[in-house]
Amino acid sequence: MKTQILRALGPQERAIAVRRAVALLRAGKPVALPTETVYGLAADALNVSAVLKIFAAKTRPRFDPLIVHLPGRAWLNQVASVEGAALLVVERLIAEFWPGPLTLVLPRRDIVPDAVTAGLRTVAVRISAHGVFRDVIRAFGKPLAAPSANRFGRISPTAAEHVRDELGGRIPLIVDAGLTNHGLESTIVAVRGSRLFVLRRGPITAEQLQRVAPVSFARPGKRVQAPGQLTTHYAPRTPLRLVRRADATKLTKGKRYALLRWAAEDTTRFAEVRDLSARHSLTEAAANLFGALRELDASGVDTIIAEHVPDEELGTAIMDRLRRAAAR
Ligand code: TXA
Ligand code: MG
Repeated sequence: MKTQILRALGPQERAIAVRRAVALLRAGKPVALPTETVYGLAADALNVSAVLKIFAAKTRPRFDPLIVHLPGRAWLNQVASVEGAALLVVERLIAEFWPGPLTLVLPRRDIVPDAVTAGLRTVAVRISAHGVFRDVIRAFGKPLAAPSANRFGRISPTAAEHVRDELGGRIPLIVDAGLTNHGLESTIVAVRGSRLFVLRRGPITAEQLQRVAPVSFARPGKRVQAPGQLTTHYAPRTPLRLVRRADATKLTKGKRYALLRWAAEDTTRFAEVRDLSARHSLTEAAANLFGALRELDASGVDTIIAEHVPDEELGTAIMDRLRRAAAR
């Protein structure tokens, strides 16, 4: 299959790209679209055969459920049932964080195909704040299932070229709107009564959620509630070692190393270096993380040395991704 890449930066090219994307979605095809977090691979969430094409293109196992993106707030009660104590909490979360990088896991309604939720009785929903994604989903007029547009277990794409490297030849269209904004996948929260369970850390921090309702964290490992918790996720092909400070790290002679730097001063021992953020901004580090990892992975070194970032606020989500990348 030939993969078309349409740029959607200027208003005119954007209109053309949106029209093409909507036509393919209506025909039951999957399309890669930018969101504010990472690029997603979207298809008609209510069409089983379209949804199955997402799994096929990503080589994603059928037990890993997809996020359902909504065209607008009015769709929430069509796909999910929000009742009782959860009602107030969900209202407040939506008022604070939608559209945006927060995914809510709620009891599902029957309209959502089993293929989307992997048979779970819950459905993950969000509304994207990305202008291009919004234009496409509004014109399409129905929910879109959209996981990250990478092969299963690989690093999420933050640029159209990353999507091409992952899924080129397997999908008909990639809409290119440049780099994504946050660079990390959405925060996933299960709402159970008036309590929140963070299933995946992301751009909306625990501190922010805590202001709305009490927050706990799903125990990693054991029973997987969000396969975003699988340690095989976000893995570069090159072995990655997570260290506090690279300056103090012993390196083996004769091996080639790359450095994903937060604070190291001496970079002379490394064949390749990428800065997460020279000015120590966690927001910038999050936006740079996956692209830098991809480049270092492609650089042909033996090992990537990644430095800790402060394990607080957004840094917690970055550390979560780095730990998974290191765990192999
Ligand atoms: O930012 C994002 O969330 C991006 C953009 C494209 O929206 N999407 C994304 O999708 O990261 P994906 O499939 O790569 O990650 C979705 C995660 C998976 O780990 C999946 O297991 C979990 O959401 N998930 C989906 N439905 C769920 C459910 N009903 N209960 C628990 N976890 C669920
Ligand atoms: Mg993913």
